[in-house]
Amino acid sequence: MHVGLLYSRIRRDEKLLLSELRERGHDVTKIDVRAEQFNISAAPPVFDEIDVVLDRCLATSRSLYITRFLDAYDVEVVNSSETAQLCADKVNNSLALEAAGVPTPATEVAFTTDAALESIERFGYPCVLKPVVGSWGRLMAKIDTRDAAEAILEHKATLGHYEHKVFYIQEFVEKPGRDIRVLAVDGEPIAAMTRSSEHWLTNAAKGGETANFELDERALELVERASEAVGGGLLGVDLMEVGENGDEYTVHEVNHTVEFKALNDAVGDNVDVPARVVDWLETRARAETEATA
Ligand SMILES: Nc1ncnc2c1ncn2[C@@H]1O[C@H](COP(=O)(O)OP(=O)(O)O)[C@@H](O)[C@H]1O
Ligand SMILES: [Mg+2]
Repeated sequence: MHVGLLYSRIRRDEKLLLSELRERGHDVTKIDVRAEQFNISAAPPVFDEIDVVLDRCLATSRSLYITRFLDAYDVEVVNSSETAQLCADKVNNSLALEAAGVPTPATEVAFTTDAALESIERFGYPCVLKPVVGSWGRLMAKIDTRDAAEAILEHKATLGHYEHKVFYIQEFVEKPGRDIRVLAVDGEPIAAMTRSSEHWLTNAAKGGETANFELDERALELVERASEAVGGGLLGVDLMEVGENGDEYTVHEVNHTVEFKALNDAVGDNVDVPARVVDWLETRARAETEATA
């Protein structure tokens, strides 16, 4: 198969994928999104011979637009533009999970500081304020008091880009010092890990400690449904353990351009994560070839 790898920076994740693809004798064209021009009527020639494009863009905005262009050019891309739209924005993501009946933290959106403060007071303290676009735990706020709420809202309203004036307010979930990241392909888990931290933000990018995690029946079911809710693909599903025995879950987000180097290290020899990703890509490319034959 011939894979187009869309990137702006080759991280360890991309290196792992590239070496797996090359080891299996696949053709790979690396496409630096910073160097391309995307014409509304004609695809850049670089896409001519490609069976499937793997979107590994770092910047959400690029990923959102480029997948739309690839749709227009009739080039198969993973993840799809629909999935990107539903995952890149936390409002869309929460709406999709809720609509699919997947348990997700109670969430409200408000557009003025006054309306947001009302929401916050109703949720009570602590509660959480998240940027609608973002990752790696950046610009997340746990709000402990009304004073803090007022200050954070004023800062966001005054200093923020317009996206930060969309106030995304969420109940604080009392998780057991960790959350769970599952890497899944079309709802089928490849591997899962816990991310533990003393801090309420447990992201690996924030220094959360990772360990292999075995998914139970309920988690498997939720991963499958969360994946379906955003149109499937190569996804990172984030869950928190809730309930008295910690055997229930709430899905706080689904990520569409997912890093897996931490996961690959956490699961050690149990699973070869890049190999499983490439297995899945091969299935996708095969399905595509059969569909167009
Ligand atoms: N409602 C919440 N209650 C408690 N902790 C949360 C909540 N939402 C997120 N977290 C913690 O914050 C981390 C980052 O949140 P997340 O919504 O996944 O944003 P990001 O896109 O930045 O990863 C999660 O991994 C989890 O540990
Ligand atoms: Mg996350």
